[in-house]
Amino acid sequence: MDPRSEVLLRQPDYFQGEVLLVGLPPDDVLGRLPNAHGWCWHAGDQAALEARFAGRVHFGVDVPARAFDTAVVYLPKSKELSDYVLKAVAARLPNADVFLVGEKKGGIEGASKQLIPFGKPRKLDSARHCQLWQVTVVNAPQAPVLADLAQHYELALEEGPLNVVSLPGVFSHGRLDRGSALLLEHLDKLPSGHVLDFGCGAGVLGAAVKRRYPHNSVTLLDVDAFATASSRLTLAANGLDAEVICADGIDAAPMELNTILSNPPFHVGVHTDYHATENLLQKSVKHLKKGGELRIVANSFLRYQPLIEEQFGACTVKAEGQGFRIYSAKRR
Ligand SMILES: C[S@@+](CC[C@H](N)C(=O)[O-])C[C@H]1O[C@@H](n2cnc3c(N)ncnc32)[C@H](O)[C@@H]1O
Repeated sequence: MDPRSEVLLRQPDYFQGEVLLVGLPPDDVLGRLPNAHGWCWHAGDQAALEARFAGRVHFGVDVPARAFDTAVVYLPKSKELSDYVLKAVAARLPNADVFLVGEKKGGIEGASKQLIPFGKPRKLDSARHCQLWQVTVVNAPQAPVLADLAQHYELALEEGPLNVVSLPGVFSHGRLDRGSALLLEHLDKLPSGHVLDFGCGAGVLGAAVKRRYPHNSVTLLDVDAFATASSRLTLAANGLDAEVICADGIDAAPMELNTILSNPPFHVGVHTDYHATENLLQKSVKHLKKGGELRIVANSFLRYQPLIEEQFGACTVKAEGQGFRIYSAKRR
């Protein structure tokens, strides 16, 4: 059981009604709270939850339409995202309770201040290195409009400007990552055909490649529904057409690809991100046609080259700069 859920379950009296668990982990909390429902935007967590609690978890970027008496928000990593989901549930709960639970190392103490606009927050419990906060919503906010929270920036590409749109919680929200910038400088001589942008975030790589090589078909894939929603907005903002898939890991990607491009997920201490990247490096060869290429950018200190060589036989460093490397490997 996730420690945040353990803390909730120490206060069961608050959670017997129709409670909405927002950004819940894929643990047994729904099994322990029979009237609870979930709202999830991580495709891997959603698949795990759906397998055990079919029909009880809403997937996507919008608050579920069904009615609920109270809501518990599991504190997301991004402040912009917690602001959005807190407002989205508080708007639906005038004079009812909203709870916020999170780990101390995740900044729950500071994040509890995000409840102040709704009423007077109080700390209900502190255990398992987590805190549980509660507020009765006396000042219900307006329901937030997600599109209004999007950030827009423009990239000057050889082919003309590319508008990038990112939603709260998406990697490198509102600005281009340095690693991705380096990869954008090295999109030359890609095998043409079907290109996958793995871990697409706001869709900057996939959109740029579609803009540069319009005859290619492009698929963008990310595990996070806010990322895939952003990618769709980025494609639309530039009049580009591509497939967007929200799914967990390379296994869900099409086969017979000509190119896989990625700035793969990497976060210190987050096991699932290592797993997704290891899996990408191990399995991408199977998703490529003969002669197809994996081209990725990664922090120079990450030892990806031997992992890629194991699968592809050879892997070259195409470029290096500002602490990043571009690796390229072709299926023989
Ligand atoms: C370093 S970011 C790169 C984002 C974007 N390509 C860019 O260049 O700005 C890595 C992305 O991988 C996604 N990701 C993490 N785990 C994943 C998984 N298991 N399957 C698919 N995508 C994943 C994250 O949501 C994130 O958007």
